[in-house]
Amino acid sequence: MSEDFSSRGQSSCVCKMLLLAVFSLILVEASDSKHVVEVLPGQIVGRVGLTVTLPCWISPQTDAGTLEIRWYRPERFNTPVLFYQEGKIQEVQEEEYRNRSSLSRRSALSNGLKDGDVSLRLDNLTLQDGGVFYCYVSGDWYDSQAVTLNISALGRTPVLSPQPLNDTHVNVSCRSSGWFPEPSVMWMSDRRRLLSAGRVSHSRGADGTFSVHSWTLVSLSEASQVFCLLTLNSVEEREGAVDVQAFRPSPSVHDETIELLRNNAGMNGSQLLYSMCLIVCVYKSQVIEKCCEFMFMFLTVVITLDRESARPDLRITQDLKRVRDPKDYQRRGDGFPYELCVCGAETFTSGRHYWEVELVYNNLDPKSFWLIGVAVKGNYQSADKTGLTASAGFWFLCSDGPKGFYTNTEPTIILSLSPRPQCVGVLLDYDSGQLSFYDVTESKHLLTISTRFSGPVVPLFNPGVGDECSLTIVGPPEPKESPEESTQTLLQNSQNLV
Ligand SMILES: *[C@@H]1O[C@H](CO)[C@@H](O)[C@H](O)[C@H]1NC(C)=O
Ligand SMILES: *[C@@H]1O[C@H](CO)[C@@H](O)[C@H](O)[C@H]1NC(C)=O
Ligand SMILES: *[C@@H]1O[C@H](CO)[C@@H](O)[C@H](O)[C@H]1NC(C)=O
Ligand SMILES: *[C@@H]1O[C@H](CO)[C@@H](O)[C@H](O)[C@H]1NC(C)=O
Ligand SMILES: *[C@@H]1O[C@H](CO)[C@@H](O)[C@H](O)[C@H]1NC(C)=O
Ligand SMILES: *[C@@H]1O[C@H](CO)[C@@H](O)[C@H](O)[C@H]1NC(C)=O
Repeated sequence: MSEDFSSRGQSSCVCKMLLLAVFSLILVEASDSKHVVEVLPGQIVGRVGLTVTLPCWISPQTDAGTLEIRWYRPERFNTPVLFYQEGKIQEVQEEEYRNRSSLSRRSALSNGLKDGDVSLRLDNLTLQDGGVFYCYVSGDWYDSQAVTLNISALGRTPVLSPQPLNDTHVNVSCRSSGWFPEPSVMWMSDRRRLLSAGRVSHSRGADGTFSVHSWTLVSLSEASQVFCLLTLNSVEEREGAVDVQAFRPSPSVHDETIELLRNNAGMNGSQLLYSMCLIVCVYKSQVIEKCCEFMFMFLTVVITLDRESARPDLRITQDLKRVRDPKDYQRRGDGFPYELCVCGAETFTSGRHYWEVELVYNNLDPKSFWLIGVAVKGNYQSADKTGLTASAGFWFLCSDGPKGFYTNTEPTIILSLSPRPQCVGVLLDYDSGQLSFYDVTESKHLLTISTRFSGPVVPLFNPGVGDECSLTIVGPPEPKESPEESTQTLLQNSQNLV
């Protein structure tokens, strides 16, 4: 029994000694640790693609130049975002932060490391950067604090597409991509009246961002313009607008005519017919053959190809009207050959202009590969579809063989067109920011892209690769003097091509 007691006494003695040792260590640490790491309360907000600084500093102020500074994500202590030691940044960082992270100053007044400012700067933020970062500093003491980075992504300007529903209503849909988190959607009329959204749907892309689609029914008597407002975290917004009167459905040309006569008594015959056809062919997104022929004749412009804007091996006829793919052209991958684009030589900065592009020749099948649209002047070659966006100044409809027909708008509008168009009409309405495409043979409006043009705009063409037929700009109707001659030139050229 006594032996038991004594051994117990011994062990408790050891315990006490250990406790004492630990206690004194803590005391030593505490007395030495006059310094702590400090960060701002709350979250730091960052935006995809931009730069952010995560403030972190030592208090009281001390030179951090000789200390070790480690910024890391949870459970990634050994592969830090940034590691500073022995006076320089060490190359042990995580791959995804290479060249994107640096030490920065938390304010203009800070002298950086000298003042104990160990703030982290991150460039080209991605969605994956959202979350916790630790700021860890050590010397003969150490401390760390967590900083939370809240990332958002402001999506693209919404694309609005109106579809006539009946005589009195238009169904307008609004699409946009590249958001995080999901934006809220609000519809408004030009009279600043709220319109109710039909249905809002979000979908998540491979990159983690959200696309949004919403639609609303608009009464034509209550609005002439409709706005779709997408708002991120109740602060930042993107807005798209469309003129719905321009998309009135057209049951009664008769009524419109009477209206026109009433309002424009001073017009002569041609002017009246022109105005009437404008309503039918452009505003009502509907084509009545004879009328549109007449109106488009008014608006048709001469377009020639600008050889300078194309690759030298692209085959272009002497009259600059016809183009096809280079001989022995080796396609890279199976993507559309965007590098084969050629611009028109004519430049537009206002008004309405119409041109037609023929996609058949003799008995050959209509072309499967083509791209037709407009571009901001000077925006020439780009082999890569990602560079051919509306925000970069390109708007087009592309026929990509079995992959179908699509626009380059954000998001893409996909069309299924059957039969394949043999002749595509393009109407550029610069002032109201509309680019419309027509199937001339079928007398059908295909689609209208609503956007905003600024600066000079030129026609854009691409003959694709692999078709037997070339792409030909037609019209305007030749002046009566020498029709034979010009037809012949065309035939000669086309013989070289087809
Ligand atoms: C970082 O930049 C260097 C040279 O500036 C470059 O060689 C390297 O590929 C870049 N690394 C990353 C991941 O971008
Ligand atoms: C950051 O973005 C810019 C512009 O988009 C780009 O030029 C640069 O290469 C990017 N840097 C890194 C490290 O990705
Ligand atoms: C990010 O900030 C927004 C706006 O302040 C907030 O609604 C959201 O909940 C935050 N996200 C996280 C993950 O905390
Ligand atoms: C058109 O459609 C709207 C919405 O469905 C409806 O309220 C309206 O009565 C319709 N108008 C006509 C003339 O059919
Ligand atoms: C309006 O158009 C959208 C497609 O953009 C469609 O999903 C919706 O059903 C349409 N609404 C009506 C009432 O037709
Ligand atoms: C109608 O008026 C326009 C513009 O004033 C003029 O150019 C055109 O020649 C006139 N047409 C006729 C048939 O008088």
